[in-house]
Amino acid sequence: MERESRGMNMAVDESIEAIVARLAATHGDRRGALLPLLHDLQEALGKVDDAAVAAVAAALNLSRAEVHGVVTFYHDFRRAPAGRHVVKYCRAESCQSRGGAAIEAALARRLDVTMGETRADGQVTLEPVYCLGLCAIGPNALVDGAPVARIDGDAAIERIAATVAA
Ligand code: FES
Repeated sequence: MERESRGMNMAVDESIEAIVARLAATHGDRRGALLPLLHDLQEALGKVDDAAVAAVAAALNLSRAEVHGVVTFYHDFRRAPAGRHVVKYCRAESCQSRGGAAIEAALARRLDVTMGETRADGQVTLEPVYCLGLCAIGPNALVDGAPVARIDGDAAIERIAATVAA
């Protein structure tokens, strides 16, 4: 089974069902366990794929459709593991009004990755995000979790590209 550990202890041969059962036990039977469990699972596996959806549904006595709906509603859940670097580019209104769409296109070209995808070599994932709370100094992005503001031209894009190349 393909698996990437993201910091939680996991036996190498632990099945997805066993991982889900172990994580579910930490949340008990309290209401609202689904979202915390999904976050834990993504932390453990780097993704929440169809097998994980099925295991979570079984563990929480929910339908697969219910779990799938939550996974696809929230942008933070990934169906496949992210690249080594993650660039989250703001698509919300204020950044868009500052030329965000053109900058996004230039950034995607420079990084050689399509929005919402991971580059074939696994080096970078480009994802949309909707407002980082830095609206007055946009367009903005998060690069590996660190805010990058005033992405207003080639120099800023090159700085992001240099980070992603490391
Ligand atoms: S709209 Fe982009 S940071 Fe708020």
